[in-house]
Amino acid sequence: MYKIAVIGGDGTGPEVVAEGIKVLNAVSTTHNIKFEFEHFDFGGERYLRTGEVLPESAPETLKKFDAIFLGAIGHPDVKPGILEQGILLKLRFALDQYINLRPIKLYPNVETPLANKGPEDIDFVVVRENTEGLYIGSGGFLKKGTPDEVAIQEMINTRKGVERCIRYAFEYARKRNKDKKLTLSAKTNVLTYAHDLWWRAFNEVAEEYKDIKKDYAHVDATTMWMVKNPEWFDVIVTTNMFGDIITDLGAMIQGGMGIAAGGNINPEGVSMFEPIGGSAPKYTGQNVINPMAAIFAAQMMLETLGESKAASAIEKSAVNVITKMSSMSAGKMGFGTTEIGDMVAKGIA
Ligand code: IPM
Ligand code: MN
Repeated sequence: MYKIAVIGGDGTGPEVVAEGIKVLNAVSTTHNIKFEFEHFDFGGERYLRTGEVLPESAPETLKKFDAIFLGAIGHPDVKPGILEQGILLKLRFALDQYINLRPIKLYPNVETPLANKGPEDIDFVVVRENTEGLYIGSGGFLKKGTPDEVAIQEMINTRKGVERCIRYAFEYARKRNKDKKLTLSAKTNVLTYAHDLWWRAFNEVAEEYKDIKKDYAHVDATTMWMVKNPEWFDVIVTTNMFGDIITDLGAMIQGGMGIAAGGNINPEGVSMFEPIGGSAPKYTGQNVINPMAAIFAAQMMLETLGESKAASAIEKSAVNVITKMSSMSAGKMGFGTTEIGDMVAKGIA
């Protein structure tokens, strides 16, 4: 029995999460796994109603669950930053979800903007550090609003934080067993302190993983190769900020935000899975948003919980439904949001 905390969130978040739950319920029957879902109303609506972004008790409450299923956070009437910092980043930090795992996989029949590249070329995973770097919210202003203004935003890299992320990536490359190659994506030529630490940690940990080919690419070159030769990548490990940027590029080459999923993972604690596309408020309530990303997030959740067979069953059914869809974009799928969820649920074997 798995206890799943559900945060539908804002905009189309609750709609896509509902389809993910539908698919989990289908897999529950076929694979004899029990789920208990508890819903939490964290998000923009709640904030506008109560003035509270996230209850103080939320992290402790959520720690009692086996996993968290998140829709999307982001509301057009709330100033940018408040919900992102107060809910999403707050939970990542408080639950020490130090890995952000983002598979970049092009499925058959999904359109990619890359010319002459197909599913055999686009299949890699980004391991993004998720609790440090430029995301810690440390810094400040001096003489704000004057011509002499100074803004400082600090980037923190701890040996412990960097090393646990790199170690996870090596383990992941080994378990994935594809090309057995791990690429560190950083900027050692400019960030000569912070990324020197990454470089040293990477090379030292690599000594324990002689079966994994180690590779390095500067982050700017990484974006170039992702477009030119995505087939070169197997697993990429990178910093929080760089990982944020390159995984949006990754989402585009795998067919767009309608299909891209991610996991905020604490390997020793509770992890949180989400479609990474955001709340897409303009599509709310129209049954036109693509639930595939949420369905793949549910798949990742099962994989992380150790339910590999059930996870594969979801992927198989989803991939089959994808071949029937005319597009991955909202409103152009050839089916409604709920129909797609129904089809994936029905196809679970
Ligand atoms: C993501 C998002 C978040 C991030 C935002 C919403 C804070 O872009 O999950 O990639 O930057 O990590
Ligand atoms: Mn992002």
